[in-house]
Amino acid sequence: MTSLPPLLLLCVCVCAAAVPPVGTQPEQVHISYPGVSGSMLVTWSTANETESVVEFGVWGGQLFSRSAKGNSSVFINEGLERRSVFIHRVTLTDLRPGTAYVYHCGSGSGWSDVFSFTALNESVSFSPRFAVFGDMGNENPQSLSRLQKDTQMGMYDAILHIGDFAYDMDEDNGRIGDEFMKQIQSIAAYTPYMTCPGNHESAFNFSHYRGRFSMPGHTENLWYSWNVGPAHIISFSTEVYFYLEYGLDLLFRQYEWLRKDLEEANRPENRALRPWIITMAHRPMYCSDDDGDDCTRFQSYVRIGRSDTTPPAPGLEELFYQHGVDLELWAHEHTYERLWPVYGFKVFNGSSEEPYVNPKAPVHIITGSAGCREKHDGFIPKPRDWSAFRSTDYGYTRMRLINYTHLYLEQVSDDQYGKVIDQIMLVKEKHGPDAWL
Ligand SMILES: *[C@@H]1O[C@H](CO)[C@@H](O)[C@H](O)[C@H]1NC(C)=O
Ligand SMILES: *[C@@H]1O[C@H](CO)[C@@H](O)[C@H](O)[C@H]1NC(C)=O
Ligand SMILES: *[C@@H]1O[C@H](CO)[C@@H](O)[C@H](O)[C@H]1NC(C)=O
Ligand SMILES: *[C@@H]1O[C@H](CO)[C@@H](O)[C@H](O)[C@H]1NC(C)=O
Ligand SMILES: *[C@@H]1O[C@H](CO)[C@@H](O)[C@H](O)[C@H]1NC(C)=O
Ligand SMILES: *[C@@H]1O[C@H](CO)[C@@H](O)[C@H](O)[C@H]1NC(C)=O
Ligand SMILES: [Fe+2]
Repeated sequence: MTSLPPLLLLCVCVCAAAVPPVGTQPEQVHISYPGVSGSMLVTWSTANETESVVEFGVWGGQLFSRSAKGNSSVFINEGLERRSVFIHRVTLTDLRPGTAYVYHCGSGSGWSDVFSFTALNESVSFSPRFAVFGDMGNENPQSLSRLQKDTQMGMYDAILHIGDFAYDMDEDNGRIGDEFMKQIQSIAAYTPYMTCPGNHESAFNFSHYRGRFSMPGHTENLWYSWNVGPAHIISFSTEVYFYLEYGLDLLFRQYEWLRKDLEEANRPENRALRPWIITMAHRPMYCSDDDGDDCTRFQSYVRIGRSDTTPPAPGLEELFYQHGVDLELWAHEHTYERLWPVYGFKVFNGSSEEPYVNPKAPVHIITGSAGCREKHDGFIPKPRDWSAFRSTDYGYTRMRLINYTHLYLEQVSDDQYGKVIDQIMLVKEKHGPDAWL
């Protein structure tokens, strides 16, 4: 047996330990609906600069028969290391609605695994199904395994993540963000993953949230709306009410945008086609948690605005009520809470036997219990009379927009092994502000 001279042996060891990861290999693959018929947007990351290509084809057809090109931009975490990654975006167009596609992304210097998705059915009579939750982190993501299996079983057409990701994406010089995006690839590479910002994204002026996701519109994902089936879904930032240091003008710009978007969605020809108007944003107007958050206060900023700014900042309850918003989805509280139809702290049931049949005010759902390192929140012992159901179990919400009149919601408990612990059918024969009369 010959042995290597000691010096050479040392060299071999050092070289082996110093082999860096392949920086051109795609990772953190996720998709989103860009709000344009027949399209899907693929976003991913590489450590080094590469081309941005998606090769795809109809499921069961010839693999990778089509190819689309996009581009990448460098994303720098503004922390100590000023660590950078490249974020790639490619929009696939001319997709056949309701058709399953197979794809991979990357370039000649490295391809991702093979993933699949179904192009959204663009029909207004389509009945989309959603998973809805907020506040899911790298640590303790209680709901993730169940969401992975649900997604693999084809249970959802889109996922709505209502703010607070990773805890926090900027930590460890942005590595926590990378790990989070890798973790959700198991669901987000297969189902459009639609988002809004939460307080845990605030670092460096929400740069991770703005840089890593790819939502419709031109507001760096902060506020946007999209149509699916019989619904118009509006995503916005409650954080503009809290991080004034990033610009009070953002709050006013968003408010103006919301007002215009709601007016447009309420034009008779639009509301006739998409009668459901659903909002999603992070911090709720109402909640019965015991943590002193905005929603625990009668004078909630999100609900009634702020009077300590110049000029005073308008709240959103009045705006949403005036425009006949049907359903408001929130998170931030690490609990689940369903409210009776409520406006101005008063309950407006359809009737006391059937409160959700033709309700006379918007319905609120708070679903922030997907699981994160901050664990659960608690409730005050005696809820107000607008609180209909509450649970501190980890879990998430399933939503199905059945048709113009029926919308189904259920809450899945992870603590109780996937048991459905709450369900309602929201029925509206009339939509819009006239429905309140
Ligand atoms: C890849 O990126 C790393 C980290 O930014 C850098 O150190 C390395 O020089 C890059 N390699 C190439 C070939 O560009
Ligand atoms: C990437 O492409 C988009 C859409 O074509 C374009 O708006 C954007 O400016 C491009 N970005 C870069 C960094 O080239
Ligand atoms: C879209 O959904 C509608 C309503 O369910 C259905 O009739 C239609 O066949 C679907 N279209 C496609 C392309 O799957
Ligand atoms: C924060 O980011 C938003 C969105 O890009 C921008 O409009 C705003 O000016 C930024 N604020 C500061 C203080 O840089
Ligand atoms: C609303 O309906 C629920 C369920 O029937 C009932 O418990 C509650 O008291 C009603 N609230 C009002 C104000 O009518
Ligand atoms: C809407 O869905 C509900 C629940 O499945 C059903 O009872 C109702 O008949 C449907 N309405 C129409 C117009 O199809
Ligand atoms: Fe939060």
